Amino acid sequence: MKNTTHLFIKNQEIEEIISNLANEINLFLKNYQNETIVFVGVLKGCIFFFTDLLKKIDHPDVVCDFLYLTTYSGRKKISNHEFNLLCDLKYNVKDKMVIFVDDVVDTGWCLKLVTDYIIKTKQPKDVKIVSLLRKNLDNNTFLKIDFLGKTIENKFIFGYGLDLDEKYRNLPDIYYVD
Ligand code: IMP
Ligand code: MG
Repeated sequence: MKNTTHLFIKNQEIEEIISNLANEINLFLKNYQNETIVFVGVLKGCIFFFTDLLKKIDHPDVVCDFLYLTTYSGRKKISNHEFNLLCDLKYNVKDKMVIFVDDVVDTGWCLKLVTDYIIKTKQPKDVKIVSLLRKNLDNNTFLKIDFLGKTIENKFIFGYGLDLDEKYRNLPDIYYVD
């Protein structure tokens, strides 16, 4: 059967979700005014979300860094319990507040493994998670998302940084295939 593509979340709605998330995070950061906050984008899916969100963060001392890893090979997951770390953090996050920025949480394993890895190897002061989207709600209750944009049905999505077999990341809206 041939897959069909559907428009799922328009860019205008994404912008509204991000404005609300930024307000929430800015409120939270009021208690950390004198601290460096390290925002860590989880590449590559985070690219558009990271830049759109960070432009709205109102804090005097922000550092941006990235982790580049893969959990999928094409549309196929590698495994729930492993990831390929292609590029590690450059900034020293020891004793710093780290906020991970991810595009979509599915099983939750990727962020669980990544945050465990960072906590164990780099001793940050604290770790928070912000995700634009979350699907598969019943399967990832072990992962606490501190700032969540929107919950969605369990569909494979692409566009706005997310890929379908490495393509379509540049699309401003989010689509799904069925
Ligand atoms: P998880 O480990 O199952 O939570 O998946 C984490 C990562 O897989 C996300 O940060 C995405 O980069 C990628 N991913 C999960 N679902 C999708 C999807 O529907 N489309 C594209 N990438 C996805
Ligand atoms: Mg991702």
